[in-house]
Amino acid sequence: MIIEPRTRGFICLTSHPTGCEQNVINQIEYIKSKGKIDGAKKVLVIGASTGFGLASRITSAFGSDAATIGVFFDKPATEGRPGSPGYYNTAAFEKHAHQAGLYAKSINGDAFSNEIKEEVVNLIKEDLGQVDLVIYSLASPVRKHPNTGKRFKSVLKPIGEVFTNKTVDFHTGKVSEISINPAEGEDVENTVTVMGGEDWKMWMDALSKENLLAEGATTVAYSYIGPEVTKPVYRNGTIGAAKDHLEATAFTIAEDLKAINGNAYVSVNKALVTQASSAIPVIPLYISLLFKIMKENGTHEGCIEQIQRLYSERLFGGDLDLDEKGRIRIDDLEMKEEVQAAIAELWKDATSENLAEIGDLKGYSDEFFNLFGFKVDGVDYDADVNEMVQIPSIK
Ligand code: NAD
Ligand code: NA
Repeated sequence: MIIEPRTRGFICLTSHPTGCEQNVINQIEYIKSKGKIDGAKKVLVIGASTGFGLASRITSAFGSDAATIGVFFDKPATEGRPGSPGYYNTAAFEKHAHQAGLYAKSINGDAFSNEIKEEVVNLIKEDLGQVDLVIYSLASPVRKHPNTGKRFKSVLKPIGEVFTNKTVDFHTGKVSEISINPAEGEDVENTVTVMGGEDWKMWMDALSKENLLAEGATTVAYSYIGPEVTKPVYRNGTIGAAKDHLEATAFTIAEDLKAINGNAYVSVNKALVTQASSAIPVIPLYISLLFKIMKENGTHEGCIEQIQRLYSERLFGGDLDLDEKGRIRIDDLEMKEEVQAAIAELWKDATSENLAEIGDLKGYSDEFFNLFGFKVDGVDYDADVNEMVQIPSIK
Protein backbone atom coordinates (compact mmCIF):
# COMPACT_ATOMS: atom_id res chain seq x y z
CA MET A 1 0.00 0.00 0.00
CA ILE A 2 0.94 3.68 -0.22
CA ILE A 3 1.13 5.12 3.29
CA GLU A 4 0.72 8.80 4.02
CA PRO A 5 0.81 10.65 7.34
CA ARG A 6 -2.57 11.14 8.96
CA THR A 7 -2.43 13.34 12.03
CA ARG A 8 -4.87 14.04 14.81
CA GLY A 9 -3.63 16.64 17.29
CA PHE A 10 -0.31 15.51 18.75
CA ILE A 11 -0.41 12.07 17.27
CA CYS A 12 0.12 10.61 13.88
CA LEU A 13 -2.20 7.71 13.15
CA THR A 14 -0.11 6.10 10.44
CA SER A 15 3.54 5.15 10.15
CA HIS A 16 5.83 4.12 7.35
CA PRO A 17 7.85 0.88 7.57
CA THR A 18 10.54 1.93 5.07
CA GLY A 19 10.99 5.31 6.77
CA CYS A 20 11.18 3.67 10.19
CA GLU A 21 13.79 1.24 8.86
CA GLN A 22 15.79 4.10 7.36
CA ASN A 23 15.76 5.88 10.74
CA VAL A 24 17.09 2.75 12.40
CA ILE A 25 19.77 2.30 9.71
CA ASN A 26 20.85 5.94 10.16
CA GLN A 27 21.22 5.39 13.90
CA ILE A 28 23.15 2.16 13.39
CA GLU A 29 25.49 3.90 10.93
CA TYR A 30 26.04 6.75 13.39
CA ILE A 31 27.01 4.33 16.17
CA LYS A 32 29.34 2.40 13.88
CA SER A 33 30.99 5.65 12.77
CA LYS A 34 31.82 6.51 16.37
CA GLY A 35 33.78 3.31 17.02
CA LYS A 36 33.51 0.55 19.60
CA ILE A 37 32.44 1.14 23.19
CA ASP A 38 33.77 -1.26 25.80
CA GLY A 39 30.33 -1.64 27.38
CA ALA A 40 27.82 -4.20 28.59
CA LYS A 41 27.38 -7.40 26.58
CA LYS A 42 23.94 -8.60 27.68
CA VAL A 43 21.41 -5.84 27.82
CA LEU A 44 17.74 -5.58 28.71
CA VAL A 45 15.99 -2.43 27.45
CA ILE A 46 12.53 -1.70 28.86
CA GLY A 47 10.84 0.79 26.52
CA ALA A 48 13.07 -0.26 23.63
CA SER A 49 11.08 0.60 20.52
CA THR A 50 11.28 4.39 20.15
CA GLY A 51 13.11 7.44 21.48
CA PHE A 52 15.88 7.04 24.04
CA GLY A 53 15.17 3.34 24.62
CA LEU A 54 15.60 2.45 20.94
CA ALA A 55 18.78 4.55 20.81
CA SER A 56 20.05 2.66 23.87
CA ARG A 57 19.34 -0.69 22.26
CA ILE A 58 21.09 0.35 19.05
CA THR A 59 24.09 1.76 20.95
CA SER A 60 24.49 -1.44 22.98
CA ALA A 61 24.15 -3.71 19.96
CA PHE A 62 26.20 -1.84 17.40
CA GLY A 63 28.58 -0.05 19.79
CA SER A 64 29.40 -2.99 22.07
CA ASP A 65 28.21 -6.06 20.12
CA ALA A 66 25.72 -6.71 22.89
CA ALA A 67 22.96 -9.26 22.92
CA THR A 68 19.75 -7.32 23.55
CA ILE A 69 16.27 -8.08 24.78
CA GLY A 70 13.80 -5.28 24.12
CA VAL A 71 10.43 -4.79 25.81
CA PHE A 72 7.79 -2.38 24.49
CA PHE A 73 4.08 -1.93 23.89
CA ASP A 74 3.37 -1.61 20.17
CA LYS A 75 0.74 -2.41 17.59
CA PRO A 76 1.51 -4.76 14.73
CA ALA A 77 -0.08 -3.93 11.39
CA THR A 78 -3.30 -5.45 10.19
CA GLU A 79 -4.14 -5.72 6.45
CA GLY A 80 -4.33 -2.16 5.11
CA ARG A 81 -3.57 -0.58 8.48
CA PRO A 82 0.02 0.25 9.40
CA GLY A 83 1.48 -0.84 12.74
CA SER A 84 2.92 1.61 15.27
CA PRO A 85 6.37 3.10 14.61
CA GLY A 86 7.91 1.14 17.50
CA TYR A 87 6.81 -2.08 15.84
CA TYR A 88 8.46 -1.18 12.53
CA ASN A 89 11.55 0.20 14.31
CA THR A 90 11.98 -3.06 16.17
CA ALA A 91 11.41 -5.18 13.06
CA ALA A 92 14.18 -3.17 11.37
CA PHE A 93 16.45 -3.29 14.41
CA GLU A 94 16.19 -7.06 14.74
CA LYS A 95 16.70 -7.58 11.02
CA HIS A 96 19.94 -5.58 11.03
CA ALA A 97 21.13 -6.98 14.36
CA HIS A 98 20.61 -10.54 13.12
CA GLN A 99 22.41 -9.73 9.86
CA ALA A 100 25.33 -8.53 11.99
CA GLY A 101 25.29 -11.82 13.91
CA LEU A 102 23.90 -10.27 17.09
CA TYR A 103 21.38 -11.86 19.42
CA ALA A 104 18.20 -9.76 19.55
CA LYS A 105 14.78 -10.81 20.81
CA SER A 106 11.80 -8.72 21.69
CA ILE A 107 8.73 -8.92 23.90
CA ASN A 108 5.67 -6.86 23.03
CA GLY A 109 3.31 -6.28 25.96
CA ASP A 110 2.61 -4.29 29.09
CA ALA A 111 5.90 -3.89 30.95
CA PHE A 112 4.00 -2.91 34.10
CA SER A 113 2.41 -6.37 34.31
CA ASN A 114 3.66 -9.41 36.22
CA GLU A 115 3.13 -11.55 33.11
CA ILE A 116 5.56 -9.61 30.91
CA LYS A 117 8.16 -9.50 33.70
CA GLU A 118 7.83 -13.28 33.99
CA GLU A 119 8.21 -13.71 30.21
CA VAL A 120 11.38 -11.64 30.26
CA VAL A 121 12.73 -13.53 33.29
CA ASN A 122 12.19 -16.82 31.46
CA LEU A 123 13.76 -15.54 28.26
CA ILE A 124 16.88 -14.34 30.08
CA LYS A 125 17.13 -17.68 31.90
CA GLU A 126 16.85 -19.62 28.66
CA ASP A 127 18.98 -17.49 26.37
CA LEU A 128 21.38 -15.19 28.21
CA GLY A 129 21.73 -16.55 31.73
CA GLN A 130 22.19 -13.07 33.16
CA VAL A 131 22.20 -9.43 32.03
CA ASP A 132 24.78 -6.79 32.89
CA LEU A 133 22.85 -3.66 31.91
CA VAL A 134 19.18 -2.77 32.32
CA ILE A 135 17.92 0.40 30.65
CA TYR A 136 14.58 1.66 31.92
CA SER A 137 13.05 4.01 29.32
CA LEU A 138 9.30 3.74 29.63
CA ALA A 139 7.07 6.69 28.85
CA SER A 140 3.40 5.92 29.39
CA PRO A 141 0.28 7.88 30.24
CA VAL A 142 -1.31 4.95 32.08
CA ARG A 143 -0.36 2.07 34.33
CA LYS A 144 -2.44 -0.84 35.47
CA HIS A 145 -1.03 -1.73 38.86
CA PRO A 146 0.02 -5.38 38.88
CA ASN A 147 -0.96 -6.00 42.51
CA THR A 148 -4.41 -4.42 42.57
CA GLY A 149 -5.41 -4.25 38.90
CA LYS A 150 -6.25 -0.58 39.46
CA ARG A 151 -5.61 1.69 36.47
CA PHE A 152 -3.75 4.93 37.12
CA LYS A 153 -3.47 7.89 34.74
CA SER A 154 -0.66 10.40 34.72
CA VAL A 155 -1.39 14.06 34.06
CA LEU A 156 0.77 17.01 33.02
CA LYS A 157 -0.29 19.77 35.38
CA PRO A 158 1.30 22.40 37.56
CA ILE A 159 1.03 21.99 41.32
CA GLY A 160 -0.62 24.67 43.47
CA GLU A 161 -1.55 27.33 40.94
CA VAL A 162 -2.67 27.92 37.38
CA PHE A 163 0.24 28.14 34.93
CA THR A 164 -0.06 30.49 32.01
CA ASN A 165 2.54 30.75 29.27
CA LYS A 166 3.10 30.60 25.55
CA THR A 167 2.88 27.47 23.50
CA VAL A 168 2.93 26.62 19.82
CA ASP A 169 0.86 24.33 17.66
CA PHE A 170 3.78 22.97 15.65
CA HIS A 171 1.52 21.86 12.81
CA THR A 172 0.33 25.41 12.11
CA GLY A 173 3.04 27.52 13.75
CA LYS A 174 0.40 29.38 15.74
CA VAL A 175 1.79 30.75 19.01
CA SER A 176 -0.85 31.24 21.68
CA GLU A 177 -1.21 31.60 25.39
CA ILE A 178 -2.26 28.53 27.30
CA SER A 179 -3.46 28.22 30.89
CA ILE A 180 -3.18 24.90 32.65
CA ASN A 181 -5.16 24.27 35.81
CA PRO A 182 -3.29 22.87 38.79
CA ALA A 183 -3.39 19.25 39.89
CA GLU A 184 -6.37 18.24 41.93
CA GLY A 185 -7.50 15.20 43.85
CA GLU A 186 -5.04 12.37 43.42
CA ASP A 187 -3.35 13.75 40.28
CA VAL A 188 0.10 13.94 41.87
CA GLU A 189 0.02 10.47 43.46
CA ASN A 190 -1.40 8.95 40.28
CA THR A 191 1.31 10.50 38.09
CA VAL A 192 3.97 9.25 40.51
CA THR A 193 2.42 5.78 40.35
CA VAL A 194 2.66 5.77 36.55
CA MET A 195 5.96 7.54 35.87
CA GLY A 196 7.79 7.25 39.22
CA GLY A 197 10.25 4.54 40.18
CA GLU A 198 7.99 1.81 41.57
CA ASP A 199 7.89 -0.24 38.39
CA TRP A 200 11.64 0.18 37.82
CA LYS A 201 12.27 -1.30 41.27
CA MET A 202 9.79 -4.11 40.59
CA TRP A 203 11.76 -5.01 37.47
CA MET A 204 15.06 -5.00 39.34
CA ASP A 205 13.56 -7.07 42.19
CA ALA A 206 12.16 -9.59 39.70
CA LEU A 207 15.56 -9.94 38.03
CA SER A 208 17.61 -10.10 41.21
CA LYS A 209 15.26 -12.61 42.87
CA GLU A 210 16.04 -15.02 40.04
CA ASN A 211 19.76 -14.22 40.12
CA LEU A 212 19.64 -12.78 36.62
CA LEU A 213 21.84 -9.76 37.31
CA ALA A 214 25.51 -10.36 36.59
CA GLU A 215 28.25 -9.27 39.00
CA GLY A 216 28.66 -5.51 38.57
CA ALA A 217 25.36 -5.08 36.71
CA THR A 218 24.18 -1.52 36.15
CA THR A 219 20.74 -0.09 35.62
CA VAL A 220 19.91 3.35 34.22
CA ALA A 221 16.60 5.23 34.00
CA TYR A 222 16.04 8.48 32.12
CA SER A 223 14.89 11.77 33.53
CA TYR A 224 14.46 15.39 32.50
CA ILE A 225 14.86 18.76 34.20
CA GLY A 226 14.58 21.54 31.61
CA PRO A 227 14.45 25.32 31.73
CA GLU A 228 12.75 27.91 33.91
CA VAL A 229 9.95 28.52 31.39
CA THR A 230 8.67 24.95 31.58
CA LYS A 231 9.34 24.43 35.30
CA PRO A 232 5.78 25.00 36.57
CA VAL A 233 4.35 22.42 34.17
CA TYR A 234 7.33 20.06 34.04
CA ARG A 235 9.84 19.78 36.84
CA ASN A 236 7.73 21.44 39.55
CA GLY A 237 4.55 19.88 38.21
CA THR A 238 3.01 16.44 38.48
CA ILE A 239 5.51 14.81 36.10
CA GLY A 240 8.37 16.39 38.07
CA ALA A 241 7.04 14.75 41.23
CA ALA A 242 7.23 11.44 39.36
CA LYS A 243 10.80 12.20 38.22
CA ASP A 244 11.74 13.06 41.83
CA HIS A 245 10.42 9.66 42.82
CA LEU A 246 12.27 7.95 39.97
CA GLU A 247 15.52 9.68 40.96
CA ALA A 248 15.06 8.72 44.64
CA THR A 249 14.41 5.12 43.57
CA ALA A 250 17.86 5.00 41.95
CA PHE A 251 19.37 5.20 45.45
CA THR A 252 17.12 2.42 46.77
CA ILE A 253 18.02 0.15 43.86
CA ALA A 254 21.71 1.05 44.20
CA GLU A 255 21.55 -0.14 47.84
CA ASP A 256 20.00 -3.43 46.73
CA LEU A 257 22.61 -3.92 44.02
CA LYS A 258 25.55 -3.47 46.42
CA ALA A 259 25.40 -7.22 47.06
CA ILE A 260 26.53 -7.83 43.47
CA ASN A 261 28.71 -4.72 43.20
CA GLY A 262 26.14 -3.28 40.87
CA ASN A 263 24.81 0.25 40.59
CA ALA A 264 21.75 2.25 39.61
CA TYR A 265 21.74 5.68 38.01
CA VAL A 266 19.45 8.23 36.58
CA SER A 267 20.64 10.02 33.47
CA VAL A 268 19.12 13.44 32.84
CA ASN A 269 18.69 13.72 29.08
CA LYS A 270 18.12 16.58 26.68
CA ALA A 271 14.70 17.73 25.49
CA LEU A 272 13.91 16.04 22.21
CA VAL A 273 10.98 15.63 19.92
CA THR A 274 9.42 12.31 20.86
CA GLN A 275 5.87 11.14 21.03
CA ALA A 276 5.85 11.79 24.76
CA SER A 277 7.28 15.33 24.67
CA SER A 278 5.03 16.55 21.83
CA ALA A 279 2.04 16.14 24.10
CA ILE A 280 3.32 18.47 26.84
CA PRO A 281 2.12 22.08 26.42
CA VAL A 282 4.80 24.81 26.25
CA ILE A 283 7.57 22.25 25.58
CA PRO A 284 7.27 22.31 21.76
CA LEU A 285 7.83 26.09 21.73
CA TYR A 286 10.83 25.68 24.00
CA ILE A 287 12.21 22.86 21.86
CA SER A 288 11.84 24.83 18.63
CA LEU A 289 13.88 27.68 20.14
CA LEU A 290 16.37 25.27 21.71
CA PHE A 291 16.98 23.48 18.41
CA LYS A 292 17.55 26.76 16.62
CA ILE A 293 20.20 27.85 19.11
CA MET A 294 21.90 24.46 19.44
CA LYS A 295 22.03 23.96 15.67
CA GLU A 296 23.58 27.40 15.31
CA ASN A 297 26.13 26.50 18.01
CA GLY A 298 26.83 23.13 16.42
CA THR A 299 25.84 21.37 19.67
CA HIS A 300 22.50 19.93 18.57
CA GLU A 301 21.99 16.24 19.37
CA GLY A 302 19.23 13.70 18.76
CA CYS A 303 18.48 10.56 20.80
CA ILE A 304 21.29 8.55 19.25
CA GLU A 305 23.97 11.23 19.76
CA GLN A 306 22.82 11.64 23.36
CA ILE A 307 22.99 7.95 24.16
CA GLN A 308 26.27 7.45 22.30
CA ARG A 309 27.76 10.14 24.55
CA LEU A 310 26.10 8.68 27.66
CA TYR A 311 27.71 5.30 26.98
CA SER A 312 31.09 6.29 25.60
CA GLU A 313 31.88 9.18 27.95
CA ARG A 314 29.92 8.53 31.13
CA LEU A 315 28.71 4.96 31.70
CA PHE A 316 31.67 3.17 30.11
CA GLY A 317 34.07 6.08 29.73
CA GLY A 318 35.27 6.14 33.31
CA ASP A 319 33.84 9.56 34.20
CA LEU A 320 30.22 9.57 35.34
CA ASP A 321 30.57 13.24 36.28
CA LEU A 322 27.55 13.06 38.63
CA ASP A 323 25.78 16.24 39.72
CA GLU A 324 25.09 17.28 43.32
CA LYS A 325 22.09 14.93 43.37
CA GLY A 326 24.03 11.94 42.09
CA ARG A 327 22.64 12.13 38.55
CA ILE A 328 24.40 11.70 35.21
CA ARG A 329 23.89 14.86 33.13
CA ILE A 330 23.85 14.55 29.36
CA ASP A 331 21.57 17.58 29.25
CA ASP A 332 24.74 19.58 29.92
CA LEU A 333 24.80 21.22 26.48
CA GLU A 334 21.11 22.14 26.66
CA MET A 335 21.51 23.63 30.12
CA LYS A 336 24.55 25.80 29.32
CA GLU A 337 23.97 29.33 30.61
CA GLU A 338 24.48 30.99 27.21
CA VAL A 339 22.00 28.64 25.58
CA GLN A 340 19.36 29.20 28.23
CA ALA A 341 19.89 32.98 28.22
CA ALA A 342 19.48 33.09 24.45
CA ILE A 343 16.24 31.11 24.65
CA ALA A 344 14.86 33.34 27.42
CA GLU A 345 15.41 36.36 25.14
CA LEU A 346 13.76 34.73 22.13
CA TRP A 347 10.92 33.48 24.30
CA LYS A 348 9.75 37.02 25.08
CA ASP A 349 9.54 37.89 21.38
CA ALA A 350 8.14 34.68 19.95
CA THR A 351 4.94 35.14 17.95
CA SER A 352 3.13 33.25 15.22
CA GLU A 353 4.62 35.74 12.75
CA ASN A 354 8.29 35.35 13.66
CA LEU A 355 8.61 31.83 15.08
CA ALA A 356 9.44 30.19 11.78
CA GLU A 357 12.43 32.53 11.64
CA ILE A 358 13.61 32.83 15.27
CA GLY A 359 12.82 29.20 16.09
CA ASP A 360 13.37 25.91 14.34
CA LEU A 361 9.73 25.20 13.68
CA LYS A 362 10.49 23.28 10.52
CA GLY A 363 13.05 21.17 12.38
CA TYR A 364 10.46 20.38 15.03
CA SER A 365 7.81 19.46 12.53
CA ASP A 366 10.19 17.35 10.42
CA GLU A 367 11.40 15.46 13.48
CA PHE A 368 7.83 14.84 14.56
CA PHE A 369 7.05 13.27 11.19
CA ASN A 370 10.36 11.39 11.26
CA LEU A 371 9.17 9.62 14.44
CA PHE A 372 6.54 7.91 12.31
CA GLY A 373 8.88 7.21 9.42
CA PHE A 374 7.74 10.16 7.29
CA LYS A 375 9.83 12.88 5.63
CA VAL A 376 12.92 10.70 6.00
CA ASP A 377 15.62 11.49 3.44
CA GLY A 378 16.13 8.88 0.76
CA VAL A 379 12.75 7.17 1.17
CA ASP A 380 10.45 6.88 -1.84
CA TYR A 381 7.00 7.55 -0.41
CA ASP A 382 5.31 6.90 -3.75
CA ALA A 383 6.50 3.32 -3.74
CA ASP A 384 4.21 0.52 -2.74
CA VAL A 385 5.18 -0.89 0.68
CA ASN A 386 4.25 -4.01 2.54
CA GLU A 387 2.63 -2.82 5.77
CA MET A 388 2.63 -6.33 7.24
CA VAL A 389 6.29 -6.22 8.29
CA GLN A 390 6.94 -8.64 11.15
CA ILE A 391 9.37 -8.60 14.06
CA PRO A 392 11.49 -11.71 13.44
CA SER A 393 11.55 -12.92 17.07
CA ILE A 394 7.82 -12.45 17.64
CA LYS A 395 5.60 -15.21 16.33
P1 NAD B 1 9.02 7.24 23.85
O1 NAD B 1 7.56 7.50 23.91
O2 NAD B 1 9.74 7.49 22.58
O3 NAD B 1 9.33 5.71 24.25
C1 NAD B 1 8.62 5.05 25.22
C2 NAD B 1 8.83 3.55 25.12
O4 NAD B 1 8.09 2.92 26.19
C3 NAD B 1 8.34 2.90 23.82
O5 NAD B 1 9.23 1.87 23.47
C4 NAD B 1 7.01 2.31 24.22
O6 NAD B 1 6.61 1.18 23.44
C5 NAD B 1 7.31 1.87 25.63
N1 NAD B 1 6.12 1.71 26.47
C6 NAD B 1 5.20 2.63 26.83
N2 NAD B 1 4.28 2.06 27.65
C7 NAD B 1 4.64 0.78 27.81
C8 NAD B 1 4.11 -0.33 28.53
N3 NAD B 1 3.02 -0.22 29.28
N4 NAD B 1 4.76 -1.51 28.44
C9 NAD B 1 5.86 -1.66 27.68
N5 NAD B 1 6.42 -0.65 26.99
C10 NAD B 1 5.82 0.54 27.05
O7 NAD B 1 9.63 8.05 25.05
P2 NAD B 1 11.02 8.80 25.27
O8 NAD B 1 10.81 10.23 24.98
O9 NAD B 1 12.15 8.05 24.65
O10 NAD B 1 11.12 8.69 26.86
C11 NAD B 1 11.82 7.67 27.51
C12 NAD B 1 12.28 8.21 28.86
O11 NAD B 1 13.16 9.31 28.64
C13 NAD B 1 11.13 8.74 29.73
O12 NAD B 1 11.40 8.44 31.08
C14 NAD B 1 11.22 10.24 29.50
O13 NAD B 1 10.68 10.99 30.58
C15 NAD B 1 12.72 10.42 29.40
N6 NAD B 1 13.14 11.68 28.76
C16 NAD B 1 12.53 12.14 27.63
C17 NAD B 1 12.93 13.36 27.08
C18 NAD B 1 12.30 13.92 25.85
O14 NAD B 1 12.49 15.09 25.55
N7 NAD B 1 11.57 13.12 25.10
C19 NAD B 1 13.98 14.08 27.68
C20 NAD B 1 14.61 13.56 28.80
C21 NAD B 1 14.17 12.35 29.34
NA1 NA C 1 12.20 5.07 24.87
